[in-house]
Amino acid sequence: MSDIPMPLAGRVTEFLEESAPKALRETVEDARKRDTLAGDFPYPRWMDKDDYKDALKPLQLELMKLQHWLTTSGARVVVVFEGRDTAGKGGAINRIADVMSHRILKVQALPKPTDREAREWYFQRYVTRLPAGGEMVLFDRSWYNRAIVEDVFGFCTPAQRAAFFDQLPAFENLLVQDGIHFIKIWLNVSRAEQLRRLLAREGDPMKHWKLSGIDVKGLGKWDSYTHAIAETFERSHTAAAPWTVIRSEDKYRARLAVLQHILGQIPYEGKSSIDPPDPAICGTPALWQP
Ligand code: ADP
Ligand code: AMP
Ligand code: MLT
Repeated sequence: MSDIPMPLAGRVTEFLEESAPKALRETVEDARKRDTLAGDFPYPRWMDKDDYKDALKPLQLELMKLQHWLTTSGARVVVVFEGRDTAGKGGAINRIADVMSHRILKVQALPKPTDREAREWYFQRYVTRLPAGGEMVLFDRSWYNRAIVEDVFGFCTPAQRAAFFDQLPAFENLLVQDGIHFIKIWLNVSRAEQLRRLLAREGDPMKHWKLSGIDVKGLGKWDSYTHAIAETFERSHTAAAPWTVIRSEDKYRARLAVLQHILGQIPYEGKSSIDPPDPAICGTPALWQP
């Protein structure tokens, strides 16, 4: 036994064995046996790792041009990454952060609001993290917490959430009107694949830290999440700030689509022609699977 702290070990297995619907349990067990992704997906298996690396390289080279353009033009870029627990937000962000300068590329993964922040305008702590000229900020979760996780767990009142949705279009319009290149990405993961990933986190000392109390408590809240997410798309898929949904059951295909989408949206200089994201896994909220 390793002496790495794994306080939530066993909790996902317990859910799967005691509370999950039988069909879901069978889908997860089958995927684990075959060692591939779980649930319905346009492809039967994840992409070959060498093919993924070959495809990633030219996209990361394009990022170098984007980075150079940020410095010379003083442009600002914001990308919001959202998605259910285990959707792969962190992994997609890391493929960008791995190759870009930490002076230019900032990642913001804010913890739950402090007591003082809880008494501020909800958007206030996010505003202070917006980019200056020449910077790109990636939000690993964002102000959309109020629309989704805070609703599911009752961390905000219905009145606070209603005020959030009222203010949201104006807030995002202001970012765009001020010239920020603003992108919102929703990573979609199926319930079976989420469970497969949480099981992997539960028993692996290198991954256990990624398993949070919210992940475990959220296991039985899939349908509340579905409801909150559907409402979020209805209220926030606007002309100025549309959502792009990327199915991320296959993390490799998803990471490539994330890069292709971002590069496609930003008018940096010297752009090479790159493939557009795979329409089977990247599109409007119509692609979202509840
Ligand atoms: P992560 O997905 O980054 O591993 P968690 O699963 O622990 O993080 O939590 C999910 C999100 O819920 C985080 O953005 C966290 O800040 C937020 N959150 C957790 N507890 C609270 C709370 N009491 N009030 C508001 N937000 C919270
Ligand atoms: P690898 O890094 O390719 O050796 O894969 C290690 C583990 O990561 C696998 O056993 C899977 O559980 C998972 N995995 C690998 N590739 C993917 C992928 N493209 N999408 C989702 N999970 C993956
Ligand atoms: C993710 O994988 O989407 C995030 O990095 C973490 C999580 O969902 O628990």
